[in-house]
Amino acid sequence: MKSKVLVSLLSDGQVHSGERLAAELGVSRTAVWKQVHRALNEGFEIETVRGRGYRLITPVDLLDADEILGALAAPFRSSISLNVLDEVDSTNTEVLRQISMGVVGVPVAIADCQTMGRGRRGRPWRSPRGENLYLSAGLTFQGGFSALDGLSLALGVAVAETLEELGVPGVRLKWPNDIFLPDGKLGGILVELQGELQEGVVRVIVGIGINVHMSRADDVDQPWSSLAKNSPRSAWSRNQIASALIGSLLESAEVFAGKGFPAFRDPWQARDMFRGRQLVAQSGGVVGVGCGVDEQGNYLVGAEGGVVPVRAGEISLRVAV
Ligand code: BTN
Repeated sequence: MKSKVLVSLLSDGQVHSGERLAAELGVSRTAVWKQVHRALNEGFEIETVRGRGYRLITPVDLLDADEILGALAAPFRSSISLNVLDEVDSTNTEVLRQISMGVVGVPVAIADCQTMGRGRRGRPWRSPRGENLYLSAGLTFQGGFSALDGLSLALGVAVAETLEELGVPGVRLKWPNDIFLPDGKLGGILVELQGELQEGVVRVIVGIGINVHMSRADDVDQPWSSLAKNSPRSAWSRNQIASALIGSLLESAEVFAGKGFPAFRDPWQARDMFRGRQLVAQSGGVVGVGCGVDEQGNYLVGAEGGVVPVRAGEISLRVAV
């Protein structure tokens, strides 16, 4: 976003004179006028108030690294390497790039928009500019790949608890790692396993997408939700949500490293969308009734012949309609 500084100066919604903007930006008034036009082309609604200056009509929620870091507890602040980007292919890919460049600390990438955001099962993840939160972090764990059983579910609990602490009611988890509100999917978690670094040390890239301000999604083929759909837009700050999520992600990763998924099982079950519902496999076959998850994070389905554990990735489940 080329006009980010201008938009950030106007983000208070007040009228700013061209003269003052020129002084603040260190450019001529003609250059201010050009920047206003560029911002208009980028989709911002800026009103020219005759004889007084410019005013941003639609509120914006700009990402700001200092604000995100400032709201983080000191130990977390010093343990991460935060990269806030205007635009990126995928924040998960960006974290990989940071790692290959030898970043120090836990790499965290956040972007205003993604051009190739990806979801689970190779699906694209809708990532419009300025609307939602796209956040990834590179985490390492001891104990080999088997120690990662249930990690994505544990992170789902971390995201759900964070949203609840921010005042979002009705957060539910859809196995294996979708975040739901009563009116549809609010977000998702993509855990990508990287190779073993050294004996038993494995790295994962965790990507979290949360719909924050999104009010349209014509090409999404399932019920979706956003925080703004459930309460007024001005109430949500992506910086505040990002800080809270980073803190909770790091804290949960530490608990998971020590205790594994069992420490998250009860809070996961408490938010289970499938429990007691009749489930069908995505392929159409009737499976049985949702009975929660086991200690490895497999979904337990009460079928005719008994309880059957389903592994994430084996089949995909949905509620029968
Ligand atoms: C899903 O529900 O399918 C998972 C969606 C994960 C989307 C996030 S947005 C940040 C990170 N970067 C990506 O490309 N994907 C994840």
